Amino acid sequence: MKVSLKNTRREFIKKNSLVGAGAVLGMGSAQTILASYVSEKSTPAIFGGKPVITSHGWPEWPIWKPETDEKRLLEVMRSGVWSRKKVVSEFEKRWAEVIGAKRCLAVVNGTNALNASLAQLEIGWGDEVLVTPYTFIASVSCIVFNGAIPVFVDVDPETFQMDPDKIESKITPRTRAIIPVHIFGLPSDMERIMAIARKYNLLVVEDACQAWLAEINHKKMGTFGNAGCFSFQNSKNIPIGEGGAIVSDNEEFINRCYSYHNYGNPYGTEAGTFGAGTLRIGTKLRITEYQAAIGLAQLERLEEQTEIRNVNAAYLKSLIQEIPGIIPYSLYPNVTRAAFHIFPFLYQKEEFKGLSREKFMKAMQAEGVPCGHGYNKGLNHMPFIKNAFNSKYYQKFYPKGLLDYDRWAEENKCPLNDMLSTEQAVWIGHEVLLGTKEDFNNIAQAMSKVQMNADLINKKN
Ligand SMILES: Cc1ncc(COP(=O)(O)O)c(C=O)c1O
Repeated sequence: MKVSLKNTRREFIKKNSLVGAGAVLGMGSAQTILASYVSEKSTPAIFGGKPVITSHGWPEWPIWKPETDEKRLLEVMRSGVWSRKKVVSEFEKRWAEVIGAKRCLAVVNGTNALNASLAQLEIGWGDEVLVTPYTFIASVSCIVFNGAIPVFVDVDPETFQMDPDKIESKITPRTRAIIPVHIFGLPSDMERIMAIARKYNLLVVEDACQAWLAEINHKKMGTFGNAGCFSFQNSKNIPIGEGGAIVSDNEEFINRCYSYHNYGNPYGTEAGTFGAGTLRIGTKLRITEYQAAIGLAQLERLEEQTEIRNVNAAYLKSLIQEIPGIIPYSLYPNVTRAAFHIFPFLYQKEEFKGLSREKFMKAMQAEGVPCGHGYNKGLNHMPFIKNAFNSKYYQKFYPKGLLDYDRWAEENKCPLNDMLSTEQAVWIGHEVLLGTKEDFNNIAQAMSKVQMNADLINKKN
């Protein structure tokens, strides 16, 4: 299946590149850069030819420095206070300020930020929660973890996000919440999603686990819904190793989350408090002072790196969108900034002499371009959902007849997402976006080179 792109929208987005002056090339200059391989006819690197990129390795991730990260870490170690205390509180305060939320609670990871948010919004048994199939498993497992039923809304392949046009038809009297996932750090269409949520009185938990500092109309992702969840896992743009956060303007909700993350003790009780009397069923999701120290150090470079990724993504996009069959991500018109955890594009093999996505990626990797396909199975197809439905708990809690997996599977088909994940999506990691202009010229040239040699690669490989 081929995605047909609405020309008007692509044109708009082409002109509406995010960042400024000089970052984006006009078509003429892009063609000049791409043309350097047209004349060369060089052998594809996959057949032993010279790779387009030979000069250097890509930026390593994570980045840390002795004078910031190591210094902060050592201070914590030497203090002897390693469990949750003032450094964690400082990190929470800073993250809330940076995101523009009233409150923040740091937790062990993004997965549990989502689990806890749903639990403390009392989303659970009997509820349906709308979510995208194009995401990491935690965006969906949090629904099942809390005993609710995931309902999938197919994607808009141009933006890779939940398609707002498809939300309303999925709403039933049992729908309680929407989980928009700003996948790759490209914002979902939050203004429309919030309007729908208001119309149907639904809760919204934003999975902003890849969307640090991304914005719509200068408002940060994570601050639109009832809760915003973040991940600081090692591969993320603000890496701590493991870590997560919940942000919200609702003090009562964050206090509940705090209590939940500390054995059900009231807000403000410290790590290791005994006999405080528990308010509710809780668990232990506290991060350590070490993690918060690294988080504070990483936070110092996030703003600058995010700016660089935006400039470079716009530049790379302006080059590769001139290559037939390569369709880079689109942003909704109201997006003022993206986070670019991944630079995604659609690959259309029809324009590459039928060369499969796998072969295209191998040829690109041989040319020195790190790329992959990422999520290659929609979460609506994952066995854990069927297993949950058939589990004793679900069978006990849900009325007979409501949980018919086969009917659910039929109703939750997402054909556009299937096409995206199994055939067309290609990812380039955020570290690459910290490279140089020459790197991006080379990536585009490598694509052109593979395209020119597609027939040969297809036959011989
Ligand atoms: C979209 C999304 N949601 C949730 C998570 C879960 O975060 P963590 O790995 O910190 O548990 C991730 C992490 O990869 C993610 O990318």
